[in-house]
Amino acid sequence: MTFRANHLLGIEPLHPTEITTLLDLADSYADHNRKGIAHRDVLVGMTQINMFFENSTRTQASFEIAGKRLGADVMNMGMQASSIKKGETLIDTALTLNAMRPDLLVVRHPQSGAVDLLAQKVNCAVLNAGDGKHEHPTQALLDALTIRRAKGRLHRLSIAICGDISHSRVARSNIMLLGKMENRVRLIGPPTLMPSGISEFGVEVFEDMAAGLKDVDVVMMLRLQKERMDGGFIPSEREYFHRYGLDADKLSHAKPDAIVMHPGPMNRGVEIDGNIADDINRSVIQEQVEMGVAVRMAAMDLLAVNLRKKRGQEAIMA
Ligand code: NCD
Repeated sequence: MTFRANHLLGIEPLHPTEITTLLDLADSYADHNRKGIAHRDVLVGMTQINMFFENSTRTQASFEIAGKRLGADVMNMGMQASSIKKGETLIDTALTLNAMRPDLLVVRHPQSGAVDLLAQKVNCAVLNAGDGKHEHPTQALLDALTIRRAKGRLHRLSIAICGDISHSRVARSNIMLLGKMENRVRLIGPPTLMPSGISEFGVEVFEDMAAGLKDVDVVMMLRLQKERMDGGFIPSEREYFHRYGLDADKLSHAKPDAIVMHPGPMNRGVEIDGNIADDINRSVIQEQVEMGVAVRMAAMDLLAVNLRKKRGQEAIMA
């Protein structure tokens, strides 16, 4: 089986072989990017619209670069979170855009499920660039590619995801992807930041960093997502760093060759010590950004192939 999906809305609907197909293609794009080999024929004649209803630096830039590297015409629509009225407005926006006949629509939205809803209303391929606390599939895929390249495999690894799990779409998508690929996932964080019923996802839950990090291969840190918090989830940032911030002492419990990851943006001194983030022997944070472009190129390439097939079949039927 190759890649069947018409949209990339989440990790949940993907089959492990689809994940591997995408990662294999992204791996070759990553090598070509390093060598400066261009692939401007892949999306030539296609229009990509980036619609970000929430702030973004690396995800939006990375989707834009990926589209341009593959030859698409890329348009960025600046959508200010304050100006949206959700629901109807989103559908209206979708219908307006659809009338302009885009081929690829990249959407980030503060409401979980908004991107799925939008995908039902348009005739193009939709890529979820993060919807509320729900999913962030390209982030999990770029994390997977980074792990696979650093560790030489993406199965039977012990991976700790640490910090603000309950507000994190990155954590949700990663838990699903890493589980589908048969890894052992541990979640570490204060009970106030741990979603209830999370152990149903086949993960182990820890409150203590030293115990949770013991002998892991990968340490994935998460940002404290204050914009999604409506009260005091932590006593203070200083206390949080003391108990949950990744520093050399806590990292010493992981395997000696364990890698450190963070999706960005980082809060140095809150969830991670700046020295660990900058340690090129442990941190793969810059590789994650690099793999982000390759993964988004692969995702848009595969979706464009399926879109052309679908449109070809529709033309025959017409
Ligand atoms: C993440 C996001 O937006 O969900 N960032 C990203 O895409 N690189 C994580 C975060 O904001 O902390």
